[in-house]
Amino acid sequence: MKIYSVEPFAFVHTPQKFPKERYRHFVFAGRSNVGKSSLINCLLNRKLVARVSKAPGKTISVNYYLINGSFFLVDLPGYGFALDRKQKRGTWDKLIDSYFLENSKSLTLYHLIDSRIGPTELDMQMESYCEKFDFSRIILITKSDKLRKTELTKSLEGIKELLKDFNISDFILFSSKAKLGRKEVLRSINEKICK
Ligand code: GTP
Ligand code: MG
Repeated sequence: MKIYSVEPFAFVHTPQKFPKERYRHFVFAGRSNVGKSSLINCLLNRKLVARVSKAPGKTISVNYYLINGSFFLVDLPGYGFALDRKQKRGTWDKLIDSYFLENSKSLTLYHLIDSRIGPTELDMQMESYCEKFDFSRIILITKSDKLRKTELTKSLEGIKELLKDFNISDFILFSSKAKLGRKEVLRSINEKICK
């Protein structure tokens, strides 16, 4: 799939402001610092669309990008930060909960998990939470460039084993730095759009 236009569409801090346009959503979720914004930039082949930072908690709103005038990529705030910021954890939960309730019929979720860390307690909670919806979920194993091939294979097996009870449609190894997995993710988006 070719990306020919990227339009920052909405940056939403409160549930009342979610866009009502009926585009399909491809949403990226994961703990803070897992590499969501970098991954979105990598997919779009642009450096500065989604803000990347060494300090966790950079993305504190639900960020919508309209791609090719036909679908949304959505960057969610990372979970597991927030306590030292103005925004309290409860606010995050409410915003995300409303987002999923409102858009569950039109979304595909990409759940990012750090290849070196594996699923954390919050990742497991996220997966349990998603079981009540029937949108499809793909696990993206991020920062894959940081592991050697054998370590990566081990990490992938471990992650699959820990998540075996959840309804996950695919696992993709990803690295924004090495552009690994980019084609697979774009293909998975294309498949949904062409359905
Ligand atoms: P929040 O917005 O805080 O939730 O973080 P995020 O999940 O959007 O992470 P972000 O993309 O800002 O990346 C966090 C850090 O990880 C940055 O220092 C990135 O440069 C680094 N990083 C992201 N992806 C990769 C990758 O594929 N490989 C390597 N080596 N580093 C990465
Ligand atoms: Mg971010």
